Amino acid sequence: MCGIIGYTGHRPAVPVLVEGLRRLEYRGYDSAGVAYVQNGEMSVLRAEGKLASLEEKVAGVSHHLATTGIGHTRWATHGVPVERNAHPHVDNSGRLAMIHNGIIENFEEQREWLKERGYHFNSDTDSEVLVNLISEGMKADRSLPEAISWALGRVEGAYAIVVLDCTDPERLYAARHASPMVFGKGVGENFVASDIPAFLPYTREVIFLDDDELVELTPSSWRVMDVKTLEPVEKTIDHINWDVQAAQKGGYKHFMLKEIFEQPKVITDCLAGRINMQDMSVQLPELESLAAPKRLHILACGTSYHAGMWGKYLIESWARIPVSVEIASEFRYRDLILDEDDVVLSISQSGETADTLAGMRRAKEFGATIIGLCNVVGSSVAREADHVLYTQAGPEISVASTKAMCSQLVLLYLLAMHWGRQKKTLPDDVRDNAVKNILALPTVLETELPRLRTRATELSRLYSASHSFMYLGRGFQFPLALEGALKLKEISYIHAEGYASGEMKHGPIALIDPEFPTFALALHDELFLKVKSNLEEVQARGGRIIALTHPGLDLNVTDPWIIPELWGPLDSFMALSCLQLFAYEVADYLGKDVDQPRNLAKSVTVE
Ligand code: F6R
Repeated sequence: MCGIIGYTGHRPAVPVLVEGLRRLEYRGYDSAGVAYVQNGEMSVLRAEGKLASLEEKVAGVSHHLATTGIGHTRWATHGVPVERNAHPHVDNSGRLAMIHNGIIENFEEQREWLKERGYHFNSDTDSEVLVNLISEGMKADRSLPEAISWALGRVEGAYAIVVLDCTDPERLYAARHASPMVFGKGVGENFVASDIPAFLPYTREVIFLDDDELVELTPSSWRVMDVKTLEPVEKTIDHINWDVQAAQKGGYKHFMLKEIFEQPKVITDCLAGRINMQDMSVQLPELESLAAPKRLHILACGTSYHAGMWGKYLIESWARIPVSVEIASEFRYRDLILDEDDVVLSISQSGETADTLAGMRRAKEFGATIIGLCNVVGSSVAREADHVLYTQAGPEISVASTKAMCSQLVLLYLLAMHWGRQKKTLPDDVRDNAVKNILALPTVLETELPRLRTRATELSRLYSASHSFMYLGRGFQFPLALEGALKLKEISYIHAEGYASGEMKHGPIALIDPEFPTFALALHDELFLKVKSNLEEVQARGGRIIALTHPGLDLNVTDPWIIPELWGPLDSFMALSCLQLFAYEVADYLGKDVDQPRNLAKSVTVE
């Protein structure tokens, strides 16, 4: 939620900030703003709506002498998304400007306290309270870092903040607690941001700030301190190998489409170095010290949760480990029964999802071992887990997750093989087929994707006038049905429900009529005949059906979508691409904002 960037260096700051915000816009996009100091004066430009509105304002003023500044793109938590609530916020004296990502939970109490001291507020935000609190802190002869430390000691909640002082215009201070913040070390310039793509064109040398750390940066220096004591903290610099191309659209109309088409490469990247062809074993050195668990709890939200559900089917089948899959926002508040023998697998693309992190922390209190499965290097999930498996999806910019789920499925597949081998529950012939076929998968998928897109486009034209959709699947395809429905609703705003096919007759079938189509996954597996009879029930009620199916199967539906049959669970990868492409084509045809759907943000760092 919210993207923030701070820059201090030798370039004109405002273009660097605006460009960085464009790469962070997936984190929130209801308003945006920048602040910079020019000729000793603080300037703030803010605009409601997408970044383009801010760009118009920026184009109308001269700002090229400013070489330090801060920028923000907002996803509203407190206060409606209007300009006065946009960041940066300035304190009453006009000396400090601040950007904030997170939520200050006790802001009302602090606001009353400040009001008693004569402060007034121009916005409804918790962030404006915080910048004035810092300002109040400076009144008692505290330096700016001391005042930040003092103010942050008074607030509860989550924050990543960057503060600019117009009396010291080359120096920025940034601090974090439970909201992401990464420092980028350049040459004659330094950066802070919520996420690496913001400054990727300038540097790949990064430091991941931990909770309660404060970094001071100027063009030529930086130091990290403990925010409470202001004592120096030793940090290591990481080198990021993401390329700039991956954070750009590369000729595609939308990031989502590009990311769907990147999936073959993502699979290849996830498999790189993971398979020993000598003995067909899976290499997961990250888990070397961990025996196969007796019980596994998978914890995740949204699309990552669907990946977890898919993983359950495979891990139970190949490794014979009982797996429970839980929505993190439920898990975190449940009366948990866990102990040191339990292993929790937290799946998160961003590694910053608040509920997933909170669930992990609760599991830790019981002594459970935590494995993080995430995409963003150095993210909170990665840092707080006992073991980390990184997916190699590269930066996922589109708000709707596609290639990240694909990468999660690959890692879950490898995990099921790894534990299956440890427990000797995976027959050699299955193992050999599993290896051989997943290695061939990227090429097959790459060849098929253009054809899949053509069919998705045809079907989108036939079905985009529908107001509701049912998605049905059984077994491995049940989590995919849930994912298909989620993709369609989040980017096209068409209501969609995912159901296990066998559950239809227990209620949802009442909805079916000629206006309520069904998208079925009717693939060639041991449950095909069951799915087929469920679809006959739908057709008997006049329901139209799109069915993903395999050549040669006896299935009579309104719109079959015949895809090549792959080996066992790998069919899910082809089916996933179809579901993503169908949702994409419907949303694009309807003229929706595919990459930045309304009300959503990429990284859900609040509850
Ligand atoms: C849907 C989507 C979300 C995320 C969810 C969890 O397309 O992207 O449902 O999957 O917010 O996010 P991560 O995986 O970052 O924890």
